[in-house]
Amino acid sequence: MIQFNKVTKIFSPNSAALENISFKINETEFVSIVGKSGAGKTTLFKLLLVEETPTKGKVFFENQDVHKINRSQLYKLRRKIGMVFQDYKLLPSNTVYENIAYVMKVIGASDEDIHRSVSKVLEIVGLEEKVHNFPRELSIGQRQRVAIARALVHRPKVILADEPTGNLDPYHTSEIIQLLLKIHDLGTTVILATHNKEIINSLEKRTITLENGKVIRDDKKGRFIL
Ligand SMILES: Nc1ncnc2c1ncn2[C@@H]1O[C@H](COP(=O)(O)OP(=O)(O)OP(=O)(O)O)[C@@H](O)[C@H]1O
Ligand SMILES: [Mg+2]
Repeated sequence: MIQFNKVTKIFSPNSAALENISFKINETEFVSIVGKSGAGKTTLFKLLLVEETPTKGKVFFENQDVHKINRSQLYKLRRKIGMVFQDYKLLPSNTVYENIAYVMKVIGASDEDIHRSVSKVLEIVGLEEKVHNFPRELSIGQRQRVAIARALVHRPKVILADEPTGNLDPYHTSEIIQLLLKIHDLGTTVILATHNKEIINSLEKRTITLENGKVIRDDKKGRFIL
């Protein structure tokens, strides 16, 4: 489903953020991307979302070179990819419902469709009773669950989670990882970027390790080795 083919990204001369990266991720895989700060994890996601362009190499999503598609195809691509960030990016003066609904409003969905989808994703993340609360009224783990619900609302094929537990204590970290596993079980491909050793060692799933922009390991049942 996703393929990086000899991808190099150079921001500043003499230092490559990513260097000759190649890997494939199949539909319904759960893959962790690990690496120290600056290793290139976020850059990898940005290349897939076409927020950055590769200096060399190609990135494919469903056999399409994502850097060769037109604007309308790009909107479609981005709807197939749900993104979860470390810092949630929720709108503070909007309720949980509004935070999730607005991503459907911008594509012109009907109120009825929006209502149905928001209820569905809130059920998945277990926050039905918080639908009219504001982000500040939620625990930090609950905020991240709202952000995950929002990422799910377009029924994406893949979820990219960029250090989604970076601000969370161990209890909420484990809750978010359980939720990502559940989403994976429901049939979504999950790519998780993290530098949390405990997560990787407990997941025992495929792990791609980046070091200074290079893939140094790609293990079927990853252990955190850096
Ligand atoms: N827009 C940019 N301009 C210049 N350099 C950049 C830019 N974005 C990233 N870099 C550089 O590319 C390298 C990889 O950065 P990236 O954000 O992908 O790392 P990361 O693995 O996500 O790190 P972290 O764990 O801290 O989030 C770093 O050296 C960073 O400074
Ligand atoms: Mg990052």
